[in-house]
Amino acid sequence: MSNFKTVNASRVTISQLMLPSHTNFSGKIHGGYLLSLLDQIAFACASKYSGNYCVTASVDTVNFLNPIEVGELVTLKASVNYVGTSSMIVGIRVEAENIQTGKVKHCNSSYFTMVAKDEFGKNTKVPGLILSNHEELRRFYNCVKQVTIKKEQNLQEEIFDFKSQEAISNLSKYNVKLEWS
Ligand SMILES: CC(C)(COP(=O)(O)OP(=O)(O)OC[C@H]1O[C@@H](n2cnc3c(N)ncnc32)[C@H](O)[C@@H]1OP(=O)(O)O)[C@@H](O)C(=O)NCCC(=O)NCCS
Repeated sequence: MSNFKTVNASRVTISQLMLPSHTNFSGKIHGGYLLSLLDQIAFACASKYSGNYCVTASVDTVNFLNPIEVGELVTLKASVNYVGTSSMIVGIRVEAENIQTGKVKHCNSSYFTMVAKDEFGKNTKVPGLILSNHEELRRFYNCVKQVTIKKEQNLQEEIFDFKSQEAISNLSKYNVKLEWS
């Protein structure tokens, strides 16, 4: 019988207080620092779910919705939204809480594709996903849509002739010019 696991079995939460050492030149928390936390939680979530250590195959979407201030308590929540054969899409929600007022803001939503590796470093099968409610079903189908769009995009890139007359003429629509050296 195949191995299946619930979305709940994948859930991981990390909370961290934002320190002055994490800021950029405008005094807000550096996007790169948040990316590093996102990668850590995606790794923890996918590894916990699959029972194997995982690697990041791609970072599909990272939406920075609101800046994060020094002194805020940042909480990242991750779960597996979709599984393929060896890959998983981990959805992450980031919220920041103002310690003094208790006000919580949604700062980031991200989707990481992680691949499970066996002890020899080869891609290995992940458990099937049990969807237990409409929200999990919605997230799963959103991922199916994203995976399909990505495959179509890759195909378009492969067949697109960027040297064609049409492609060159179309450049007039954009803020670029050709200047060969
Ligand atoms: C990403 C990686 C695992 C792909 O493995 P591969 O054997 O080359 O490729 P495959 O075509 O067999 O893909 C394996 C799975 O990954 C998925 N995948 C591969 N590249 C992907 C990408 N760019 N985006 C999303 N999914 C991807 C495939 O869809 C497939 O999923 P499935 O098994 O669920 O069907 C491999 O290239 C790798 O290990 N890369 C290095 C990862 C790493 O070191 N990350 C940290 C960077 S610092």
